[in-house]
Amino acid sequence: MKKIMIINGPNLNFLGKREPEIYGSDTLSDIIAYTKEKTAALGAEIVAFQSNCEGEIIDALYRAYDEGFDGVVINAGAYSHYSIAIRDAISSIKLPCVEVHLSNIHAREEFRHNSVISAVCKGMICGFGKEVYPLGVRVLCENR
Ligand code: DQA
Repeated sequence: MKKIMIINGPNLNFLGKREPEIYGSDTLSDIIAYTKEKTAALGAEIVAFQSNCEGEIIDALYRAYDEGFDGVVINAGAYSHYSIAIRDAISSIKLPCVEVHLSNIHAREEFRHNSVISAVCKGMICGFGKEVYPLGVRVLCENR
């Protein structure tokens, strides 16, 4: 059975209330429940974690390594655009990571167009709303 960690970064705790025209009306727990339901047939164990703090996200990445997870789906929120520390943690652990974003970051403000973590992730999925999470889990479970 694959063990997948889903990490969500800053402000994603406020989904449901936060700019619903951009991020939709589901809360983060709705999205995690949806992801588990949608990927149930894959038989993966899914552990979800959210933090607004950069260091806690880094600690979660090392926990994923220490605890033998098979991969990570990460929405690092705004940290995606500038956290070299999160990028370094992803390259250090060498676990397959899939970067996800609810919104299409390329269709938004210019400062969101670049992600400093994309190059060290297996791939990036953005713009499909909550669907990006089950897609990320699927990629990690089905591809090597
Ligand atoms: C986001 C996109 C980021 O630019 C933004 O800072 C977020 C959410 C997304 O899921 O679309 O917090 O990662």
